Amino acid sequence: MRIAITGASGKTGWRVVDEALLRGNQVVPILRPDSQVPQALADGKVEIKRLDLANQAALVAALSGCDALVIATGARPSLDLAGPLKVDALGIRAQISACKKAGVERVVLVSSLCSGRFFHPLNLFGLILLWKRLGERWLAASGLQWTIVRPGGLKEAEEQLELQGIRFTDADQQESSSIPRRLVAKVCLDAIELPAAVGRILEITSATDVVPQSLGDWLAVNPA
Ligand SMILES: NC(=O)c1ccc[n+]([C@@H]2O[C@H](COP(=O)([O-])OP(=O)(O)OC[C@H]3O[C@@H](n4cnc5c(N)ncnc54)[C@H](OP(=O)(O)O)[C@@H]3O)[C@@H](O)[C@H]2O)c1
Repeated sequence: MRIAITGASGKTGWRVVDEALLRGNQVVPILRPDSQVPQALADGKVEIKRLDLANQAALVAALSGCDALVIATGARPSLDLAGPLKVDALGIRAQISACKKAGVERVVLVSSLCSGRFFHPLNLFGLILLWKRLGERWLAASGLQWTIVRPGGLKEAEEQLELQGIRFTDADQQESSSIPRRLVAKVCLDAIELPAAVGRILEITSATDVVPQSLGDWLAVNPA
């Protein structure tokens, strides 16, 4: 498959690129014009596309020929309290629109546990959980083949991940705990490969006391 990844300069995004390559896919990492290239993408093996998500023509051109998009963008903490509105809602809408124009039907969105909650400390940053939910709603209403992945607190850990089981649930079942970004990246790629993941909101956290289970196995016993 040819998979585009937006937010590929981010700590989850570059791992999605990495995992997609490990699985033998072609990748199209999409970065902002001024994004720093992460070390993992700096070897020149993949061609990076740089564009502003508000530039619809450039985004459509970058997505053309792709089979799927993983959206790993997210407002970075800043003093601009409109950041979450711009990135996590309007930025998602722009990406949905570009997918339709480019003929990309499969989209996986990295969102967050507690998306849609009003009373939550994370909302001190520009009501981010409300804007994330709006972005999710637009994707779910888009007619595209979508999956929304809502991870818990993201961690950088890369060691002994095989000892961690992923706790999968449907929407609004989990509200705390964490998960390494590497495992989030793997779930995003698993979701693309699994038709049963289409139209699902998947909440994910991980821990060593959770019995490891694949997304495919979980979906088989938890149908929509
Ligand atoms: N941090 C957590 O514990 C946590 C928990 C649950 C869910 N999440 C969500 O999971 C996702 C990934 O998180 P992360 O911590 O891995 O991400 P991150 O490292 O903060 O990376 C964010 C990515 O979004 C891009 N971005 C930001 N503003 C943008 C804009 N206006 N236009 C285009 N791209 C833009 C960044 O590009 P630049 O490199 O150019 O800035 C970067 O590639 C985010 O949606 C985040 O909200 C985070």
